Amino acid sequence: PPYTVGYFVGSLAKASVNRRLAKALIRLAPDGLEFVEIPIRDLPLYSYDYDADYPPEGRALKDAIASVDALLFVTPEYNRAIPGGLKNAIDWASRPWGQNSFAGKPSAVIGGSIGQIGTAVAQQNLRSVLSFCNSPQMNSPEAYIHITEGLIADDGEVSNDGTAAFLGGFMESYYEFVTRVLTVVPQR
Ligand code: FNR
Repeated sequence: PPYTVGYFVGSLAKASVNRRLAKALIRLAPDGLEFVEIPIRDLPLYSYDYDADYPPEGRALKDAIASVDALLFVTPEYNRAIPGGLKNAIDWASRPWGQNSFAGKPSAVIGGSIGQIGTAVAQQNLRSVLSFCNSPQMNSPEAYIHITEGLIADDGEVSNDGTAAFLGGFMESYYEFVTRVLTVVPQR
């Protein structure tokens, strides 16, 4: 069946290369996946003071995650970790205690950087956070994308055939992973 994927872009920048990467992944994904972005920009900074009464932005985030079958994180690396805005969104979604939105929700992690190691350190950081949040993750393939000038256009078109094939293969594996997790343990 078609599955709905909620995707997070870890960058808030207007010219984000990871937003372009997300568009490329959507273009190259198999037909069985539909995509909806889960926005993180307007969330206040989380504190557990909000737990008794979540504001609309926090509730919207949790509702958005609840309404999708699986998650995809497309994130830059900032100072060898995930950006603060993405960590803030994860903290919001993981709470209030006992209402962790990630529990059992399949996820995958990918990211692109203008640097050579392509977000490898940030992705490890994100994987440990998602592990703690009890999200089943696609372990393999991994994808550390070195984004050079002209590689991905604003509309997500990939200029290099090898990169396009690799990203398409990543999404094919993601579809198989999501299907496997949701078939073994139907989520809704
Ligand atoms: C960076 N950048 C970066 N790159 C990297 O590979 N490892 C890193 O640790 C960092 N650290 C870092 C910190 C901060 C605060 C910024 C603004 C940038 C460079 C980064 O790869 C580049 O800015 C990308 O364009 C970020 O992706 P988005 O935001 O354009 O999607």
